[in-house]
Amino acid sequence: MANLSALYLDDNKYIANTYNRINIDVDYGEGCYLVDTKGDKYLDMYSGISVNLAGHSEKSIINAIIEQSNKYIHLSNNFISKSSVELAKMLVNNTFAKKIFFTNSGTEANETAIKIARKYGRNICSEKTKILSAYNSFHGRTMGSLSLTGQTKYQESFKPLLDNIDYFEYNNAEDLEKKVSDNVCAIFIELIQGEGGIVQVNKKFLERLIILSRKYNFLIVVDEIQTGLGRTGKFLACEHFNIEPDIVTLAKGLGGGLPIGATLLGDKCEEVLKKGDHGSTFAPNPVASAAGVEVLKKILEDGFLDSINEKYNYFIDKLMDMQKMYPEIINNITGKGLMIGIDVGDFAQVIKDRAFENKLLLNVTANKVIRLLPALNISYEELESFIQKFMNVIKTI
Ligand SMILES: Cc1ncc(COP(=O)(O)O)c(C=O)c1O
Repeated sequence: MANLSALYLDDNKYIANTYNRINIDVDYGEGCYLVDTKGDKYLDMYSGISVNLAGHSEKSIINAIIEQSNKYIHLSNNFISKSSVELAKMLVNNTFAKKIFFTNSGTEANETAIKIARKYGRNICSEKTKILSAYNSFHGRTMGSLSLTGQTKYQESFKPLLDNIDYFEYNNAEDLEKKVSDNVCAIFIELIQGEGGIVQVNKKFLERLIILSRKYNFLIVVDEIQTGLGRTGKFLACEHFNIEPDIVTLAKGLGGGLPIGATLLGDKCEEVLKKGDHGSTFAPNPVASAAGVEVLKKILEDGFLDSINEKYNYFIDKLMDMQKMYPEIINNITGKGLMIGIDVGDFAQVIKDRAFENKLLLNVTANKVIRLLPALNISYEELESFIQKFMNVIKTI
């Protein structure tokens, strides 16, 4: 790449090279924009991969962080932190959950769910330890959640993985039925596969899953790390699909950009973990929790979730019009709320590169899908600006 900045080169030299970096020196973020040190302003259509739900540098979140930091930044788990209790209470009062276990990330929230599932199973019978997840899923990169991430490209170099895991074809009820047995303690599932290309679960499959969970007494663990917290126009995506899960995992935007995850526990498993069974030095961090309280206040504000669905309706019409104009480029449009996939096949990388030249930041997943995850408070003007920029790029293909 031409003209790599000094910062880019130092990053390459000093930080382990596990990420593809964009050659831009970000100076600051503001709402849906990132501004570089040259003053160029980029429209950010994936908001920290769905972390910056309220946009960059949201003042009320910054103020909550400052206020809490002025009191204390960390307490060991021997002490109760008020902001964490408040956050847990809000999560319980607005979901199926009876209790919350806090973590520092999404993968840790899933690790917690794995431990609970195994203990839940073993409490019934020592053989009941098998966990199923879907092919093409993404549940994280630590060894337990990586074992559930049903994609060999992430797993191959790190085998052997966790024992007693198997995979079913997403949306294939017959395949799922073949894989379940009395030895299954849990099934992990994303209701919309994010990393897998914005692929939505179908109703028939979910109905079968629920029937099987009752027959074989396994836990349904819904990974809402990407779909949760208003992303799909409901507080949890579960609400779209009429599914009552046993566990839901959250992270990403929960801390307004600070690291925090949560494992939400329903009544079947709220008491499974006992003192000493699980823990974390850092979680729940009081500052991240205070930011989380502010994030949840915003999402739960009257009319906020409705506004996401209204934006979806407006946006999807425009995208469909574009698909009609360019059917040879846009194969498919999927998603809910402000989690939208535009399948552009082999054009994905060139579209992403040209968008960048047009000061538009896009994320590509599954090699072929432009994954849109903008801040949930993106304005109609900003959506319109995306449409114009995206159209300009498509025209050049
Ligand atoms: C559905 C899903 N599960 C788990 C994870 C892992 O979360 P984290 O990167 O915070 O460990 C992600 C992250 O992209 C995700 O999208």
